[in-house]
Amino acid sequence: MNAAGEMSRDGARAEDSVAQSRLIALVAMTPTGVIGKDGDMPWRLRSDLMRFKKLTMGGTLIMGRRTYDSIGRPLPGRRTIVITRNADWQCEGVSRAENPEQAVQMARQTTTSQSAAITSQESSTGLDTSSQNRGIYVVGGAEIYRQLLPCCDEVWLTRVWSSVCGDTILSIELSKFRQIEQTRIIASSKNSVPTEFIRMVRENS
Ligand SMILES: NC(=O)c1ccc[n+]([C@@H]2O[C@H](COP(=O)([O-])OP(=O)(O)OC[C@H]3O[C@@H](n4cnc5c(N)ncnc54)[C@H](OP(=O)(O)O)[C@@H]3O)[C@@H](O)[C@H]2O)c1
Repeated sequence: MNAAGEMSRDGARAEDSVAQSRLIALVAMTPTGVIGKDGDMPWRLRSDLMRFKKLTMGGTLIMGRRTYDSIGRPLPGRRTIVITRNADWQCEGVSRAENPEQAVQMARQTTTSQSAAITSQESSTGLDTSSQNRGIYVVGGAEIYRQLLPCCDEVWLTRVWSSVCGDTILSIELSKFRQIEQTRIIASSKNSVPTEFIRMVRENS
């Protein structure tokens, strides 16, 4: 294949990658919509944290500045984009976006350039790097979910079966999503309350 052919193939692969770069919201909430309390999450769910790590590893996380403050550092192995109106905000190893739309655009640009790099790596080394995680994960908090959920292709919801009170409440409209997976986890020494992990995809997406 000539250089032009290679480039057009790369372009097509990059476009495929954008199509693959699904916007996925991950949220843990109680039946009354509690997602946070005092700047943190009012439960300790080791299984949920482990699943979060496994599912998002290698991808891009989009979060609000308050959620970033509650975590306090970029999570290893993932690119972090923090949304804030504060133009002076900066943190090593983290990208800043001035609004949710810009955050998604930045994440998509990264996945496109990753794809081009991967494609040229594949063609030069014969490596199959198709398992690379190009997902873009919207990980809260409430302000960011409210603004980005309407654009998300999938929602990965952890229903936290707890009556705990909180100060950050979320109501999400799920009628446009279809459930494709459900896993129940009982309470244990590592999980203070029972949970249910539900994966939903937007109809016709
Ligand atoms: N249960 C869960 O799954 C889950 C997940 C994540 C977080 N949480 C919890 O949720 C709580 C935090 O949520 P939150 O709603 O208070 O805050 P948040 O959504 O994490 O962050 C809000 C901040 O994001 C920035 N922001 C929001 N909209 C913006 C826009 N259109 N343009 C520019 N910047 C914008 C602002 O930052 P500036 O003020 O810097 O401008 C705003 O103060 C915490 O308790 C956290 O533990 C729970």
